[in-house]
Amino acid sequence: MSEELDALIAGLTQPQKTVSPKYFYDETGSGLFDDITTLPEYYLTDTELAIMNTHVDEMTELIGEQASLIEFGAGSGMKTRLLLEHMHAPAAYVPVDISEEHLLESQQSIQADFPNIEVIPVAADFLHPFDLPNPRTMPRRNVVYFPGSTIGNFERDDALELLRVMHTEAGEGGALLIGVDLQKDASVIDAAYNDSAGVTAAFNINMLRHLNREFGSNFELDAFEHRAAYDVDEGRVVVELVSSKRQTVRLGDADIAFAKGESIITEYSHKHTLDGFADMISAAGFRVGRVWTDQKQWFSVQYCVRD
Ligand code: AVI
Repeated sequence: MSEELDALIAGLTQPQKTVSPKYFYDETGSGLFDDITTLPEYYLTDTELAIMNTHVDEMTELIGEQASLIEFGAGSGMKTRLLLEHMHAPAAYVPVDISEEHLLESQQSIQADFPNIEVIPVAADFLHPFDLPNPRTMPRRNVVYFPGSTIGNFERDDALELLRVMHTEAGEGGALLIGVDLQKDASVIDAAYNDSAGVTAAFNINMLRHLNREFGSNFELDAFEHRAAYDVDEGRVVVELVSSKRQTVRLGDADIAFAKGESIITEYSHKHTLDGFADMISAAGFRVGRVWTDQKQWFSVQYCVRD
């Protein structure tokens, strides 16, 4: 707790203030994120699901027989189910998550619908290597699954480190199936992060409520505004909370001063080119084996094999 508080204070006392996006996801924030995925402007979820629906047979052909599907983040959503339905005699489904609660939910809902698949939850912080369980059926291949373009929320060095952990967990002969959002017209991306119903704004502001509850800070929720803008040169959305007045916020034993208009960066969401992502994945020891996209080339699902 105090390490977390120290890290928060360190981020908030830099010239450009930052807070880790992990603080979006308390119960309210997770619910708001689920709402985001159903917004008309948020093209990512629908587009990825459509790609999966169209190409799942080809994906599961590449995954092959008796593979173990290792999902980074506990899944129970439609994409995971689609894969499990089409996989050929899967050895196991292994959701990996730091939250025991999310794991239990994932295990219960997947096991109920797939009684013949061994579901083995692993409670771990997947940013660091962890031990994989031994399924009753020996897997012929481990396939790491990381949907949703969550890789985009990591800065390049951290993304590389995470991809290297995936490389380790995939093991020899293993693979990675990953959802990657692509660069496109800025207006489409800007709309996705500034929805007209204000759900993304509520999701961003809720982070302050979460900090107040967990760390006893006194952020005034209506003294900050949501801002999200796509930076074309950097290929990323910068999500910020902008202070609407001069103010001081108490967090632990620190007084955090804000000028009017000063911001906290709460998240980056990187958008890749196919070539740029291929370079990154190869720096982590993978090679892109197959890429599926939608007709507009807005989103991609990529099957990457270990070199
Ligand atoms: C989880 N992640 C892929 C989302 C994204 O699009 O970067 C988080 C998000 N932030 C605002 N809207 C959605």
